[in-house]
Amino acid sequence: MQSNKDYFTLGATITIPDLENDVHAVCHKLRPVEPVSWIPATECWLITDRAMCIEVMRDAKTYTVDHPGFSTGQVVGPSMLSLDGKSHQAHRSPFERPFRKREVEQRFREPVGRFIAELIDGMLKNGEAELRRDFCGPIAVKTMIEALGMDEKPVHDVLKMYDTIVDAVTRVTAGEPVSAEGRAAFEALSDSLLPVLKRGGHTSLLASAAGAADGLTNDEIVSNAAVLLFGGIETTEGMIANALYHLFSHPEILEQVKVDQSLIPAVVEESLRMEPAASVVDRYTTVDVQLGDAMIPAGELVRISLVGANRDPETFPNPDKFDPTRPNLQSHVTWAQGPHVCLGLHLARLEAQQSLKQLLTRLPDLRLVDEEKARPTGLVFRKPQGLFVEFAPQQSR
Ligand code: HEM
Repeated sequence: MQSNKDYFTLGATITIPDLENDVHAVCHKLRPVEPVSWIPATECWLITDRAMCIEVMRDAKTYTVDHPGFSTGQVVGPSMLSLDGKSHQAHRSPFERPFRKREVEQRFREPVGRFIAELIDGMLKNGEAELRRDFCGPIAVKTMIEALGMDEKPVHDVLKMYDTIVDAVTRVTAGEPVSAEGRAAFEALSDSLLPVLKRGGHTSLLASAAGAADGLTNDEIVSNAAVLLFGGIETTEGMIANALYHLFSHPEILEQVKVDQSLIPAVVEESLRMEPAASVVDRYTTVDVQLGDAMIPAGELVRISLVGANRDPETFPNPDKFDPTRPNLQSHVTWAQGPHVCLGLHLARLEAQQSLKQLLTRLPDLRLVDEEKARPTGLVFRKPQGLFVEFAPQQSR
């Protein structure tokens, strides 16, 4: 098939800084005229129309993740993130039960609440904090350490392994071979996880999943555990930070929530719609396909803009308004849809809701000091550069 990339004259004008800093305006420009468009700056097809985004995410036969263009598999081995069809199901299904809402509530409500309380204890007397790095990030990391049963490992060591693996994946994406450091970090992660698998039973979410994973080798379970780390750290940090940003930048809603904390789930949901921390998901075409006006040959990168879908005015009237009273709050596609829908969504929601609840209860006078730095930006992962806040110092408990 001959592709018609030249046809997309609006897409040709979009730059990477536009996408990083002003993606909502870009999506509103593209959606009515080029709902799927060729973007030369990022060398991919970009979809901003919600219905089309959903169609593509649900059709794994035509739009797959199983492609060498995805570098994660080269560093951590095959996992649910890089497979489709039957093998995807084999890798994912052992994890589905322990990630169900009821199981997540039972296993994580207490420890997540405790991590949050300890982090707040640690900042009480300072009267100021940068919440993204000092609060949101650590909650995400501690929760994943708990899930993987690695509680004896210092947070710092886990983060170092994680950063090194992420760095190796980024380099492979840029065309470099897998680095020795990347291999060593993945081996270190394996070494820390094998005893967890040996302990077995229901001692951790990972051990529970491993117990149900008849057809998977230990190496394959470890690869999926690495993917849980990828899925559960950066996005969760962004999700909590974005929710705090939306709350602090809407003082009237903040006051309502302080009086009635039952509004918190709706605030989190609306924040997830407005600014999905993972703003795009990528697929490769397996065959030549026509999508809208686009003629897409097999093997090309198609990028689904979750940000674009979530502000499609067809589904969300007045889409740029932060409105937690919307009747269809949960119609956002922030967790993706189809076979790769986020596995951790109940755990992520629990973390965000508990974070807001405890912060507002214990630091009711919390206020943002730099709204511009707090505005979420980023090409793939969207979050504040920094969430600087002040509050009246208190004695630790
Ligand atoms: C506890 C935290 C989380 C965990 C453990 C987690 C885990 C995962 C896993 C394992 C997958 C891959 C599923 C598969 O391929 O079958 C996934 C997919 C996904 N997750 Fe999460 N996640 C978490 C939080 C989040 C957050 C906070 C967001 C966004 C705000 C998010 C957005 C997504 C998206 C968009 C996908 C689909 C990726 C794709 O289709 O290519 N996740 N998640």
